[in-house]
Amino acid sequence: MTIPDPVHPAWLPPEAFRAVGSRRTLVLGDGLLVETVHDEVAQACARYGGRVRRGAEDGPYDLVLALITAESLPGAAGAVLAEFRGDAGPAGRVIGAEGYLLARRDGVTVVLAGDSAGLLYGLFHVVRLGERAFAAEREAEHHRPAMRRRMLDHWDNVDVHPVMGQVERGYAGGSIFWRDGAPRGDLARVRAYARLLAACGVNAISVNNVNVHATEARLLTDRLGDVAAIADVLRPYGIRVHLSVSFASPVVLGGPPTADPLDEDVRTWWTGVTERVYETIPDFGGYVVKADSEGQPGPFAYGRDHADGANVLAEALAPHDGVVHWRAFVYNHRQDWRDRTTDRARAAHDHFAPLDGRFRDNVIVQVKHGPIDFQTREPVSPVIAAMPATRLAVELQVTQEYTGQQRHVCYLAPMWSEVLGFRPWGPDGAAVADIAAGTADVADGAEDRHGRAPGDGGGLVGVSNVGDDPYWTGHPLAQANLYAFGRLAWVPWADPAAILDEWIDLTFAPAATGGTEPAATGESERLRRTLHAIMDGSWRTYERYTAPLGVGFMVRPGHHYGPDVDGYEYTPWGTYHFADRDGVGVDRTRATGTGFTGQYPPPWSGTYESLADCPDELLLFFHHVPYGHVLRSGSTVIQHVYDTHFAGAEQVAEARRHWAELAGTGVVDERLHARVLGLFDEQLRCAEEWRDQINAYFFRKSGVPDAQGRRIP
Ligand code: GCU
Repeated sequence: MTIPDPVHPAWLPPEAFRAVGSRRTLVLGDGLLVETVHDEVAQACARYGGRVRRGAEDGPYDLVLALITAESLPGAAGAVLAEFRGDAGPAGRVIGAEGYLLARRDGVTVVLAGDSAGLLYGLFHVVRLGERAFAAEREAEHHRPAMRRRMLDHWDNVDVHPVMGQVERGYAGGSIFWRDGAPRGDLARVRAYARLLAACGVNAISVNNVNVHATEARLLTDRLGDVAAIADVLRPYGIRVHLSVSFASPVVLGGPPTADPLDEDVRTWWTGVTERVYETIPDFGGYVVKADSEGQPGPFAYGRDHADGANVLAEALAPHDGVVHWRAFVYNHRQDWRDRTTDRARAAHDHFAPLDGRFRDNVIVQVKHGPIDFQTREPVSPVIAAMPATRLAVELQVTQEYTGQQRHVCYLAPMWSEVLGFRPWGPDGAAVADIAAGTADVADGAEDRHGRAPGDGGGLVGVSNVGDDPYWTGHPLAQANLYAFGRLAWVPWADPAAILDEWIDLTFAPAATGGTEPAATGESERLRRTLHAIMDGSWRTYERYTAPLGVGFMVRPGHHYGPDVDGYEYTPWGTYHFADRDGVGVDRTRATGTGFTGQYPPPWSGTYESLADCPDELLLFFHHVPYGHVLRSGSTVIQHVYDTHFAGAEQVAEARRHWAELAGTGVVDERLHARVLGLFDEQLRCAEEWRDQINAYFFRKSGVPDAQGRRIP
């Protein structure tokens, strides 16, 4: 299978394999993924003149790179490899599932993997390092993923939805899996995607929308073959397939006339259907469920709760080692905007925290990172700290629904990094990344207090930003978000700027330098500087020109692109800013508001409650304040609104200039340059629209002029 032209190779251009492909490599191990490793190396060698052997003998063969699984190490000859026997431990246990050791001794670079998946990840690590992997002796480094589950959810519809189209909240064209009600015939694109995902560490994909419509529901039964075909293509890259299913499946797919989770016939139905799934796809990952949320069916219809609902599916999956990702995105989307006591931010915690301890072991409660809905700035969801006896996955939105829809540059890794590093119990407590990894209360590899194995948390889930666009992501620079998602799921503490460097080196440097790494030429350095200038701070820039101080939304209802300050203010959706002539913001305090601050443990319950201590960037999420309120920064709220909106739009103009200056320099492909420049024009137009609407709105409400006398329309 070939990648259809003109699909952009993203972070795996052939040149990225030059260092590997020009050497003599030994691949040792068994299994499908080891074959993938061998094929990858063989292809690179065919291009760059190296050689690859697939066998135990390394005698006369003067190897330079050894890619070996721990279980095949005892049979491997050669002094250098013998040295590693102690490091691997019995059957690679020291290295761990999906992990690998990397070292260079006596002129041989060795990847010693805990299992075949680890070998694949180890190969891609060597690709990332390029020449650096072969430059000097290297002490053994131990790599293993922080999160066992690193998953992307596709919100792809099989049928074209009349409002949402082929991909719900998709900004990169059609689906790579489905078109007009059927699977796409050529899965070459899916295979290329699987490679890209393996190269950044993703190991699970859900292939259909969480809003399960009639056709998609049938993927579970009579259209399961379509899912199996995708699973076959993803498998060689270590990626398991998951399916979004409707809670009402028994009813809509010809089973019992009820979906009541406590009904015996319903349990039997799920058990039977799930058995057939595993007969067809033996390594099937499990189900994803959006229940009682935005109109999706769920257990409430039968007077049951979410634990009852999740457990019936989990029970069916358990004998097959499958999991159910049960989403906590549950709230009343038909609330009365006049009712100021109902607070959407509270909903997930109100519904789920009381259920802690009631979910079966193979239920993963999947929690959006913030309490509302993927806004540019939200506090971390209090649910994440409220369910110590439940496996939790943290859900991020890689697709840029609320962050510029892949028409604006918005590198999201800095936001995700803040989320993952947030410590709900204060500086001495665990971080969000630890909770998602399942290591929050694990000491020295012991089992945690709830008896789960260390590191077996729910992991990290991202809503995919990929479509059939030639650049995969619509905006070529949005590829970096996909790459960074996978890398942060492996190494949550990684520096977003360093991840960006990896992405730049892989994606652009080989081309800019004709493939001679390390890419230290003036050209590639210039490109690197430009991309950092444009991308490092782009999330904060986006925040500056959109809704201020954590208040959220203010987007056009429906498609959610561009400003509309009051667009959601008098709707049932629960996303209000409450601006009037005197002030703005949502009072979520215990003292006078909705009490949401009380869902956090100390110290944050106190920090957010206190007007003086609440971080500026979240002030309007937690408090309703007068326009003259003085922020911790020293500025007033109204002046902050003006200043940030002028600054944000100006920063977009500056980023556009940086990019424009690359024209004709040859450091990036001309078509890619032109596409990004065109998108910058739109971003600048939209940022100025945001600036002017937000500034005009608050000037008209408050009557307070800009202290610097700038023009407000
Ligand atoms: C957002 C988004 C929806 C999506 C929902 C979800 O509300 O706008 O399109 O279905 O999130 O996460 O389920």
